[in-house]
Order: sequence, then structure tokens, then C-alpha cells
Amino acid sequence: RTVYVNGAYLPENEATISIFDRGFLMADGVYEVTSVLDGKLIDFEGHARRLSRSLNELDMANPISKDDLLEVHRELVRINEIEEGLVYLQVTRGSDGDRDFAFPAEDTPPTIVLFTQNKPGLADSPAARKGAKIISIEDIRWGRRDIKTVQLLYPSMGKMMAKKAGCDDAWMVEDGFVTEGTSNNAYIVKGNKIITRALSNDILHGITRAAVLRFAKEAQMEVEERNFTIDEAKEADEAFTTSASAFVMPVVEIDGTALGDGTPGRVAPRLREIYLDEMR
Ligand code: PDD
Repeated sequence: RTVYVNGAYLPENEATISIFDRGFLMADGVYEVTSVLDGKLIDFEGHARRLSRSLNELDMANPISKDDLLEVHRELVRINEIEEGLVYLQVTRGSDGDRDFAFPAEDTPPTIVLFTQNKPGLADSPAARKGAKIISIEDIRWGRRDIKTVQLLYPSMGKMMAKKAGCDDAWMVEDGFVTEGTSNNAYIVKGNKIITRALSNDILHGITRAAVLRFAKEAQMEVEERNFTIDEAKEADEAFTTSASAFVMPVVEIDGTALGDGTPGRVAPRLREIYLDEMR
């Protein structure tokens, strides 16, 4: 694989960053994941906009213009011959060659890394035909989940708790209400109505979420942005998640309770189809 690091395209085993990088020492970094279908980037604009916002919220310098960033994405997709897959992008505060809680001097160059992941079958996914089994766990993450930081230890632990329980993923719950999935936004469906938590600092403002809600409204579905509990989710007709890496993923079981007949319902697979049709 050819990867990109601080302006250079290199074979992955030749790309290096400092051991003092604050991304490594402090999780002082932000990231984006953009999917690729038919060799084309899906919703690059949305991801670039959110990257700027994340950097801004953390007073981190933006190391690259949007046009140049698009060029790097396209070049990596081209060089690595990605038809279906992902482009991962990470920007960290870099380092001035030592460990310190205080940020380094403002002119310290940020670190920027991009790499591709080849994922054949991303769109025509067997997992999406089957649907996901979910467990619920307490949400103990920090209070700025709207910033897409690389602090992913707890979401990783949540994923492992799900696997241990024979499930696919976890939804996190705070004060009795679902916040989001470990790496996706969470929804329930009741009749013609899609219910999902409103945007705030409590959840990531999903790029896929924005597009899917827009398409849902265009398809005359009702969208209600409000909190919901795991109990309400268990009694819903359907549930699903959205993310750049799995698009729309039906949820068929929550904490051992099957939703409907335990297979993907009507709405989630339709939204997945609409999303893929409209975006590719
Ligand atoms: N995760 N919520 C969380 C906590 C996420 O990590 C993600 C994305 C989302 C969905 O956002 P979007 O639709 O913009 O991908 C919601 C990415 C895919 C990841 O960590 O790999």
C-alpha cells in the first residue's frame, strides 16, 4: 500500500512519525473516514467540512487546503486501485520533540497521515442483509463527542464487549437515553417515523446521518430528532445505524430482544438502497 504522510507518498513500511507525536502520546488528534464506491469518494465535502470544524474546536492548525486534501484522497485511491473501500485521514498536533501536557508552540507543524483500506463488498454487504445484533453499554466517553478525536479506546472496548456477547456492536446509553453506536449514529423506526437523537456535543454529527435524514424526508418519511431509551428501541418496528464505513445498517436485535421478526425491516434496507443510489 502507498500511504501519505506530511506531504510525501510512501510505501506503508517506509512512512514514519515521531514517537513524541501528540497523537500517539495524548490522543491529541482528529480523523475522518471517507468511503469509496466505484473508485469515487462518497461525500468528501461533508468530511472535509467536519475536519475543519474538529480542528477549529481544538485550536489545531489545518495543515492542508480542501483542494489539496481532495487531491491526496484521489491520488491514494488511484495509486492503490481502490474500487470499494475507505480513505482514513488523521491530523494530530504533532510534537516539538518532548512530552508535555501543554500544547507545543503554535508554529509546530501538525502531522497529517492518510491511508486507504480496500473493502470489496462494502456496498453489497452480507452483514447488511443479515442485520446487526446490538448490546447496550453505559456511555462513559468525554463530553465533546461532536469532535471526531482519535480517543477510541472506550468505543473499541464496547465493540469487544459486543463480540464477547456474540453480538456485532454496542449502543451507548447516558442518563437512560441512547447516545450513539461505537462508530455510528443510532435510529429507531416506528411506522413511517424515524427517530434519532438530536445533534449536540453528546454525539458525533454524522455525515451519513445528514444525508440519510435528507433522503428520508424526500421520501415522505417523518423524522423526529429526540432522545429514546433502550426499552423504546426494543419495542420499535425497526432500528438501524449509519456511518461512512457501513452506510445504513439494519439492527435486528437489542440486548437479546429481537426487533419485529428478527430480520431487517422495510425502512432500513430501503434507506440503504436510496443512500447508495443517490451517493454513488
Ligand atoms: N465512525 N458516531 C461515532 C461515534 C462515529 O465514530 C461515527 C463514524 C459516526 C458516523 O459518522 P459518519 O456518518 O460521518 O461516518 C457516528 C467512523 C466511520 C469510524 O470511526 O471508522
